Amino acid sequence: MKKYRILTGLQPTGDLHIGNYLGSVRELIWAANKSSDTETFLFIPDLHAITVDHNPKQLRENIKKLLATYLACGVDPAKYTIYLQSDIEVIPAISWILETQTPFGELSRMTQFKDKSAKNELFGAGLFSYPSLMAADILAMDADYVPVGKDQKQHLEFARNTAERMNKKYGKLFIVPQELINENTAKIYDLLDPTKKMSKSDETLNGVIMLSDDEKTVRKKISRAVTDSDAKVKFDPKKKPGVSNLLSIYAGFKNITPVEAAKTFKNSNYGELKNAVADAVWAKLSEIQTNYAAIILNGSLDQILEAGKQKAERLARMKYAQMREALGLRI
Ligand code: ADP
Ligand code: TRP
Repeated sequence: MKKYRILTGLQPTGDLHIGNYLGSVRELIWAANKSSDTETFLFIPDLHAITVDHNPKQLRENIKKLLATYLACGVDPAKYTIYLQSDIEVIPAISWILETQTPFGELSRMTQFKDKSAKNELFGAGLFSYPSLMAADILAMDADYVPVGKDQKQHLEFARNTAERMNKKYGKLFIVPQELINENTAKIYDLLDPTKKMSKSDETLNGVIMLSDDEKTVRKKISRAVTDSDAKVKFDPKKKPGVSNLLSIYAGFKNITPVEAAKTFKNSNYGELKNAVADAVWAKLSEIQTNYAAIILNGSLDQILEAGKQKAERLARMKYAQMREALGLRI
């Protein structure tokens, strides 16, 4: 039976927060456990990370941290193919071929390039061809589904167009990938401004709970969360964004719905609600942090990346050989 392949790239940018955990990491863990006819590839796009000015020491640290965090959150290396993009040496070669087959105008329309080139003083030509490298990641592995955030939708469309254009010209070379956007995932908001999403780019991080925050910090941040003066616990995101956000967080960590959470607290005051939310968050974070420390200590990351590399490299090499054949790059 054919297994459906899910593939996604995880940017190695700093620590994760509980919004990333509830909205993204946990979804991936569920996706891999949901059915036996899927296989999941997770990789770190380190070659993408150097398309803007970067600090080598910091990048190395972030790659290690991100990998250890995913494993600590419950990503089981036995169920996933986990690898580092730059370990797969034919990926840039595949990307080069895709670039040569891409109209300049199509790359020029990418909004991420426009945004990032305006924001960063130092950026290379690689920032412009970034979507081709992303298409190479996806098409090399014959991915059927690609979970991406909204900001990457245009790049996925680009990968689809590239696959379709080349299939038309050279015969069926690629699987045309589909995006996987789960509309039902929890969206978590900033504790101090519940109208904006919790994000690591927030300046103070006072309304953002990082997975690495200690217990005192977690409790302090939650106790200072903005609520309202109505003093009734209800799930009503429009009228009561702060309280509803606390209920979503509680529900996320308890695997129930926010409406069910609201029932549990219908006779509680806001102080009691906040205490219960802090208990629920800390119960999971302390577990993640214990796992994380053990993973960093036992140093199994190298072996996991090596195993992933073996499998991913074999697939990418096969695809590269097919592409060379189809494009006449051989005698
Ligand atoms: P950030 O805004 O912190 O930089 P990213 O844009 O890197 O987060 O998002 C990484 C993943 O985490 C995406 O899949 C995104 O959908 C998810 N995510 C980010 N912030 C939240 C949030 N506040 N609530 C739910 N999911 C989130
Ligand atoms: N560009 C993606 C991001 O910024 C990361 C990424 C690189 C990716 N290659 C990919 C995601 C392939 C999915 C599939 O989040």
